[in-house]
This record gives sequence, structure tokens and C-alpha cells, in this order.
Amino acid sequence: QKLELKLDAIEKGGYEHFMLKEIFEQPRSIMDSMRGRLIADQNHLMMGGIREYANKFVAADRILIVACGTSWHAGLVAEYLFEEFARIPVEVEYASEFRYRNPVIRESDIVIAISQSGETADTLAAIELAKSKGATIFGVCNVVGSSIARASDAGAYTHAGPEIGVASTKAFTAQVTVLTLMALMVAEKRGTMENSRLRQLMVEMENIPAKVEQALKLDAKIQHIADVFKDVPNFLYLGRGYNFPVALEGALKLKEISYIHAEGYPAAEMKHGPIALIDENMPVVVIATKDSSYEKIVSNIQEVKARKGRIIAIVTEGDDVIPDMAEFVIEVPAADEALVPLISVIPLQLLSYHIAVMRGCNVDQPRNLAKSVTVE
Ligand code: G6P
Repeated sequence: QKLELKLDAIEKGGYEHFMLKEIFEQPRSIMDSMRGRLIADQNHLMMGGIREYANKFVAADRILIVACGTSWHAGLVAEYLFEEFARIPVEVEYASEFRYRNPVIRESDIVIAISQSGETADTLAAIELAKSKGATIFGVCNVVGSSIARASDAGAYTHAGPEIGVASTKAFTAQVTVLTLMALMVAEKRGTMENSRLRQLMVEMENIPAKVEQALKLDAKIQHIADVFKDVPNFLYLGRGYNFPVALEGALKLKEISYIHAEGYPAAEMKHGPIALIDENMPVVVIATKDSSYEKIVSNIQEVKARKGRIIAIVTEGDDVIPDMAEFVIEVPAADEALVPLISVIPLQLLSYHIAVMRGCNVDQPRNLAKSVTVE
């Protein structure tokens, strides 16, 4: 038994849980997902899997993304990326809905399937349906040789390494990394992006692991915030633009492992419902980094404050407006808004982790959840 305990400790690399180890592995797993694909100072941006299908991507008049759970959130980020960079319309679909609703699929469509395990039954069935209609299937999987990887025409692996914690963390950032490189590469080929922005984003991508490392230093502060909120029954997460999918992901992380009810919303939609829930007991996590919708989200924060909501704000370092409005402020390093999800999600992962641990929950194996859902 002693030996088993020792082995367990070794596997967790000194961390108390796999989830925490995996959160802290992200600088590395993001770097691994870029290795060989991006060398900014040599102007090198190449994904082997796309090269062969480059013409298809260039000609595509539509991209469909199918996925489930956290991978679906990565798909939402990809929608913003592909539309902004490559100017290709994107639809992001829950695989389970897509496969059963007689969707319109054309031979000219590119279907991107995103899956950590590569075994999710609904995602696999969705691509098989799309394939039967003649669409090109591109897999973004973490597990080499998995069913979805094999069923795809082409693909790009995320190199996150094995993810053991049921709640996905490093797989999500690896997916977003790979999808960002894909969108940049397709944009370059389609000529839809200013060269200077493309170059700047390539350099910024290389700096992301260091910024994630910096964001991980917020751990102690986040632990303190977790202690303040660990007993609340509800949480609301708000974000706009690239941070909207991050709000959804933050809420999902919290409910998965701490069993606290949480909802993620695009901040402006708040007034169409969730604002009714806000009172002095409601914690509202607002992801409000400096970007093109900053002024808008500041007014959303004011709306929450006017109803006495308890604001926890994720802001860009040096922000001197929001700290006066929020109860707690978490400062993350500045980054181009298109790359910010890779950084702003980190404190949300840590917040859910610490709350769950403080509530005595089994963070690596939460009740009722499976790491990979191979039945529908
Ligand atoms: C399960 C896992 C989630 C994951 C989802 C999709 O629900 O608990 O963490 O995001 O499946 O899994 P996939 O392997 O397809 O990314």
C-alpha cells in the first residue's frame, strides 16, 4: 500500500491532484503544441496536416466545427479566430445536436472536429455523417491514433500530453493554441490579414507560455478569493468577444468539480435574464481585459455593481479603472485580444480548483462525470 501511495505521488509530480499538475503544465503543453509549427523570427508557420489541404481551406466558403464540452468552448474561440483572421464563416455545433437534426452539409464544407480523447461518441458520429455527405474532415485531437483522429481526412494533434483530471484544462489551451495557428496559417494563405498583424501575432504566440507562467503566479491570491466564496450556491461568469467562451469555460469548470451552480453569459446578454439574479449574495466573475470591448464591459460591471453584485474581475495588468469598482481584482499579463483566452482562462481554472478542494470534492474524479463519453 505504501508503494502504491508513492507511485501515486510520483505520477502527480508532487502536486496534490492531477488537475493542479495539469494546470501548471500549461506553459509547457502550449509550447509543445507550437513546436515545429511556429518559428516567428524565421517567418515559419506550418501545420503539416493543413499543407495538403491548403487549397481546400483557401477555397472554403464555410467551416463547421463539431465538439462537446470544453472542446466545444475551444471551438467557439476558433469561430472568432477564423472569422477575424481568415474571413471564413464558421458555425460551431454541439456534435449531439448536429448529428440528429438533418444538417445542411456541402462537399465544399470543412468540418473541424475537436476532441481531447478522440473517442467522444457524438463527435465521432457527427464527423461520420459529414463525411458521408462529402465534406472534408479535419481532426484536432490529443490522443494519437484515437477513433476521431483515424476517421478524419487530415488533422493536427494537440501535444498536451495525457490529461488525467476529468475537468479539462491543459487540453483546452492546447486546442486553442493549435486552432490559433491554423487560423493564422489559413489567413496567410488567403491573404486576409495585414502582414504586420500576422507577424505581430506570430511573435506574441511565442510569448504566450511565459505569460501563462506569470498568470500561474496568481495562485495564492486566487486561493484567498476561493476561501471567501467557497460556500456560495451560485456564480455568474461574464465576458465579451474572445472572452465570452472563456466565461462559459470558467462556469463549466466550477460546476464540474465544485458542484456550485454557475452560468456563463456574454456580458451584454445579462440584461436579458441573469441580471434578475443579481443581489448582494451573487458573485459575478467578469473577464474584462483591455480589448476592443473594454468600455462596454466596464459599463456592464457598473450595472452589476448598481445591483450590489460581488464583482471578481479579471483585468489586464495596470488597469486603473476596474479596481475601484470590483471587490476582487486579478491582474493578468497583457496580450493581443485574439490570444487572451489562453491567459484569462488560467485564473478561472485555479479558482474552480481551489473552491472544489475547500469544499472537499474529488476534483480529479467528480461525481457522475467521465473523462471520455463513449456512449451517447
Ligand atoms: C467529457 C469530459 C470533458 C470534455 C468532453 C469532451 O464531458 O469530462 O472534460 O470536454 O467530454 O471530450 P473530448 O474528449 O471529445 O474533448
